[in-house]
Amino acid sequence: MLDFGGQYVRNIERTLLEKGVSVEIVDYKVSTRLLLRRGVKGVILSGGPYSVYDKNPPTCDPQLFRLGIPILGLCYGHQLIAHLHGGLVKKGRRGEYGFSELSLDNRNPLFHGLSSKEICWMSHGDVVETPPKGFKVIASTPESEVAAYTLENRIYGLQFHPEVSHTPNGHVILENFAFKICGCARFEWDIERFTFEAVEKVKKALGNARAVIAVSGGVDSSTAALLASKAIGRNLTAVHIDHGLMREGESVEVVSLLKKLGLNLVFVDASERFLSALEGVCESDKKRLIIGKLFIEEFEKVAREVGAEWLIQGTIAPDVIESTRGEARRTDRGHGGLIKIHHNVAGLPSGMKLKLMEPLSQLFKYQVRALARKLGLPAHISERQPFPGPGLACRIAGPVTAEKVTLLRKVNVKVEEELERYKPSQYFAMLVNNLKAGESKLSASIAEKHLETHVKAYVLQDESVGVKGDSRVLGRIITLEPEDCGSWSSTSWINILRMQNEVTGSIAEVCRVVASLAWRDGGKYGVIARAVDTLDYMTAIPTRVDFARLSRLGESLLNHHEELGFFGFEVTTKPAATIELI
Ligand code: XMP
Repeated sequence: MLDFGGQYVRNIERTLLEKGVSVEIVDYKVSTRLLLRRGVKGVILSGGPYSVYDKNPPTCDPQLFRLGIPILGLCYGHQLIAHLHGGLVKKGRRGEYGFSELSLDNRNPLFHGLSSKEICWMSHGDVVETPPKGFKVIASTPESEVAAYTLENRIYGLQFHPEVSHTPNGHVILENFAFKICGCARFEWDIERFTFEAVEKVKKALGNARAVIAVSGGVDSSTAALLASKAIGRNLTAVHIDHGLMREGESVEVVSLLKKLGLNLVFVDASERFLSALEGVCESDKKRLIIGKLFIEEFEKVAREVGAEWLIQGTIAPDVIESTRGEARRTDRGHGGLIKIHHNVAGLPSGMKLKLMEPLSQLFKYQVRALARKLGLPAHISERQPFPGPGLACRIAGPVTAEKVTLLRKVNVKVEEELERYKPSQYFAMLVNNLKAGESKLSASIAEKHLETHVKAYVLQDESVGVKGDSRVLGRIITLEPEDCGSWSSTSWINILRMQNEVTGSIAEVCRVVASLAWRDGGKYGVIARAVDTLDYMTAIPTRVDFARLSRLGESLLNHHEELGFFGFEVTTKPAATIELI
């Protein structure tokens, strides 16, 4: 696979590996001679945060197309193949971010085993408007007429992403490409072997040295801790830091849980330090960097006390992928334009003295859960919903204050209680300022079309983080207030998804759409409930909820907390929004 810097490069790799296809990621400039020497059976051109009309867009060796081996271009790869063969790539009428409905020719070998209508996941601004001469269109969506093409069933391009879990049958397409079209042989990948090798690797690297492991109590760090303790036993010290941004009662729970697992544990209450360092900080990445730096300082203190040379972290693949800047994508730190600085990756200070070990950095969340089960972690940890390292700071817009943290903690208990019934992959409350920058007439008219009632659409003043076409965006939040709140319940879920797609696709600076469920005049803050279904947290779809129940919760929260001016439920997919607010 030629890496053009797309955020899903590792998803493609994982999907193929799990299906038993041997795959190697190489720089997009790789020489065709090298590919020939390696005897590759087929080539994938990944997506990337570029347009073929950028100044000096990344491109592959044109000889590649003369080798006679199968080639599959995905997203940017699809546009690049079309462009290099004389097709026409253009800016789409509007971007497509998230779910889209695909009509396809399932007689083509690439689509064997699929229905003629499938759901697919998109994240792009440009589209192939006219395919090159001789290329046949084999799939379309309402926004991309050329959603897939082929030249003689050997060269293929797909505008959508078959590698993400929200293209439910995308894995079939990748399997068809590898086995039916390229004729690859199948090999086995298994968790048993991974576990054995990971433990051996830690043992070998650390020998008799001591290590500290940062444990938040989440599945990643708990699994990494158990794996590391299997490797180095009592030479491992687990450190849990309360940064003052944990949920209600969480640190107490985590400490008791880690003790039960039999780990050496040091607990540090650093809440005042973190909160005072965050005072007045608005910018999302600044918050993340401050938190990352303070975490490391605290770890280094404990490491000095216990004589540890190593820091072990439960970093997983998406943390690395999303934290990596475009220019660094060809280093071993991962792929993808910068989406978020995860405190445990890009947040690490350059002068860190501890040696770093990240035994899970190749895995996605569902694989970590499988590993956790294999290591015997109790179900309430292995199946636990993720909670980000920077904690509630990821869910507060604008500066983090003790007042906001206390309010969000209280509200979050109620929101989690309500959303738990749907068993989403992740569910929580976020706090924004109840300040409106203005109205959005376009969003209102899109919403009115789907909700069939008069709608007021407001743009909030706060910015939040989104992801569009493999690139990070600092975007706006739109809240939709329908005249008849019952229209949320009476509108089909698919239409609500179409609506948010249209809003984020039509307005470049918007990355979140919120269904307002209760509001009143005044109140400094607004609460946005979020619940998403996802497998690997790289793409996500809002969980289908009962809006009438949620409205009642909203009313009750507004009655109990006079600081609140509105309550809503976020209906945006990832992309265009990320899961967390910032
Ligand atoms: P986003 O918001 O990027 O989140 O769509 C994807 C998943 O990662 C979690 N997340 C983090 N986890 N440190 C973490 O340990 C972080 O800085 C961080 N940021 C996001 C998020 O909760 C979701 O599950």
